[in-house]
Amino acid sequence: MSSFFDILAPVYDVLHIGSRRTFRNIEKIAEFTPVDVVVDVGGGAGRIARFLVGRVARVIVLDPSEGMVRQCRKREGLECVLGGAEKIPCDDSSVDKIILVDAFHHISAQLAAVREMRRVLKPGGKIIFEEFNPETLGGKYVMVFEWLFRMGSTFYTPAALARLFSEHDFEVRVVNRGRKAYYAVARRV
Ligand SMILES: C[S@@+](CC[C@H](N)C(=O)[O-])C[C@H]1O[C@@H](n2cnc3c(N)ncnc32)[C@H](O)[C@@H]1O
Repeated sequence: MSSFFDILAPVYDVLHIGSRRTFRNIEKIAEFTPVDVVVDVGGGAGRIARFLVGRVARVIVLDPSEGMVRQCRKREGLECVLGGAEKIPCDDSSVDKIILVDAFHHISAQLAAVREMRRVLKPGGKIIFEEFNPETLGGKYVMVFEWLFRMGSTFYTPAALARLFSEHDFEVRVVNRGRKAYYAVARRV
């Protein structure tokens, strides 16, 4: 799937209005602190992670698309790393927060990613999600779009996402359900 994002990478930010609003929604539930190490998994060009620069100790943006990582590296203050959620280049229990914005459904090996995120998070560390909700009309529209482009996405309803992460020792709270997307936080037990 990287090739689709490689092509989109140079214009990715321009295609997204409301990035600051998305960040504010994440910020409300994440409770970032100045000492936090944060990994933006599937963070693309750093569209959301850029708002964290100066607010936390470290921001690592991990993405398997070379085009996205190239764009990300143009931004100051971000550590942009080529790679996937299945192998996060961080030590065990070393990360305070992970953000996953419009990204979890793009990961093909989702179970491996869940285990890997659990491995790198400190006990009490959190994953903050923004995901499309396949139960809403807006979410269905995105599903059809990604199906037409053969993106291989696997979408989760809020309940299914909560179930999956609960089965892997996370406490999950779905925080905000919009017309298209929802926000959730999964805390490593
Ligand atoms: C829709 S974009 C979102 C990018 C960014 N989170 C944002 O909101 O601007 C989805 C991203 O997921 C990435 N992705 C695809 N497979 C992945 C994987 N296995 N692990 C991590 N990221 C992946 C893609 O390369 C792409 O940059």
